[in-house]
Amino acid sequence: MSRTPFIAGNWKMHKTVDEAEQFIAGLLPRVSTADGVDVALCVPYTALAAMVDSTRGSRVEVYAQNMHFAEQGAYTGEVSAAMLAELDVHGVVLGHSERRELFAETDKALALKVPAALEAGLKVILCVGETEEERERGDMQRKLRHQIQEGLEKVPTERLGDVVIAYEPIWAIGTGLVATPEQAQEAVSFCRDLVADRSKEQAERTRILYGGSMKPDNAGELIALPDVDGGLIGGASLDPQPFSAIVAAAA
Ligand code: PGA
Repeated sequence: MSRTPFIAGNWKMHKTVDEAEQFIAGLLPRVSTADGVDVALCVPYTALAAMVDSTRGSRVEVYAQNMHFAEQGAYTGEVSAAMLAELDVHGVVLGHSERRELFAETDKALALKVPAALEAGLKVILCVGETEEERERGDMQRKLRHQIQEGLEKVPTERLGDVVIAYEPIWAIGTGLVATPEQAQEAVSFCRDLVADRSKEQAERTRILYGGSMKPDNAGELIALPDVDGGLIGGASLDPQPFSAIVAAAA
């Protein structure tokens, strides 16, 4: 089965609406002819409505960077899946390592967030990955097994392939250190095996991205790996030029 490559930018806490509009004006002409690749931007809540508007009719989809699992309730500062769907947001990135490390996001919460997002019609990118310490003490597979099994636990089998997984080794995020092609392929194919434990057919459909210091000069090699279906891009997604170059490398 062939999987369409997918390049998603993760702006994190960057860009006001004004800055986001400038970015989009620079990006759209650069990616309009890139064929055979899906493109998304994960933007701050405050820029969602403007970005949905400015990308309408283009190939670029707009994702949020987090959401709550409940439909509504006394959760000050939180946003529900229905609130995102109402804005015509296409999807949401869940379980980014910064949310896990800095904001106490747990696998338990993600086990509820992932199906809640799918139920609301949102696409999901579920982030997983090990720290340097976990890799060094041989705990990478154990960590990935936990994160993927729990994150997908309440997803119905026939929808497993709708969840995009982003393998992001934490030691490679924002550090300029990139996983070697061997390390990336090994971890990403292990992630696919974990989905296959539930359903081989769904595992073949599942798109698995690599993330962590992906740049125009290393993207081609990583995306060409047999199990890597694209990238989740932080730093290099803040400027249209490098981001569009990565999209072109995947096209
Ligand atoms: P980076 O971030 O590309 O800046 O390493 C990736 C991410 O955090 O998704």
